[in-house]
Amino acid sequence: MKKWGILTVCLMLTGSLLTGCGNQNNDQASVSDNGKADGKTIVLGTSADFPPYEFHKMVNGKDEIVGFDIEIAKQIAADMGATLEVKDMDFKALLGELSSGRVDFVMAGMTPDENRKKEVDFSNSYYRAQQAVVVRAADKDKYKTMQSLEGASIGVQTGSIQEEIAKTIPGAKITGLGKINDIIMQLDSNRVDASIMEKPVAESFVKNVNGLAIADAVPDYKEDGYAVGVKKGNKELVDQINKTLDRLNKEKKIDQFVAEASDLAVSK
Ligand code: ARG
Repeated sequence: MKKWGILTVCLMLTGSLLTGCGNQNNDQASVSDNGKADGKTIVLGTSADFPPYEFHKMVNGKDEIVGFDIEIAKQIAADMGATLEVKDMDFKALLGELSSGRVDFVMAGMTPDENRKKEVDFSNSYYRAQQAVVVRAADKDKYKTMQSLEGASIGVQTGSIQEEIAKTIPGAKITGLGKINDIIMQLDSNRVDASIMEKPVAESFVKNVNGLAIADAVPDYKEDGYAVGVKKGNKELVDQINKTLDRLNKEKKIDQFVAEASDLAVSK
């Protein structure tokens, strides 16, 4: 299988040629195949740089935001009889957009950590994953333990828990970036030595981009899983979302969505 070149990654993962590889804010896409919409729209905030959770993909010549978070969000919208609208932005902007009511809910592989719980409310968690360290394949043997990352330059997404993990590594030089695609480019061009990200995301990039590998070093982080964020106090919406998540769990749909999105993330 031919892997993507770095330029292709840039184009595929951040969207179209015109927007290129820079940060994009409030890129909008409508997902309207839930059938029973009655004029009501529910707006999802996400950071679509995170395959297989949410990412850009050309589908029939059109740039779409896909991934298993998006599939779950479609189900949430369908259960509410609403049309789903997806707003793409940098990860660090999500909680503010939620609090100000510009988006109704957030799904972005988001860990419901204690600091965020002060700002917004979360659903039950719907999936769990471990952390991983991504390096250039040629350097894989250098990074067998977390100690070996001491003093290294590490790229992380700004505002993510990975940024917090990186801060616990003595002497680490941390580069915070808005989009994970940009971190991958920095790794590729030797501007950072390593990056920390969720394992499914790491696997997806390593499969798609030449010259990257997952190191043996494993960050020690007690994972709470991922949850859907809503504006603080919006109990009605959390209850509604939890109902949909319960249904999807019972129907074993979440594992199915994860498997499908993982295939989609590595397909042409
Ligand atoms: N789970 C991590 C966090 O909550 C990273 C999430 C990044 N998500 C994204 N769509 N880029 O901080």
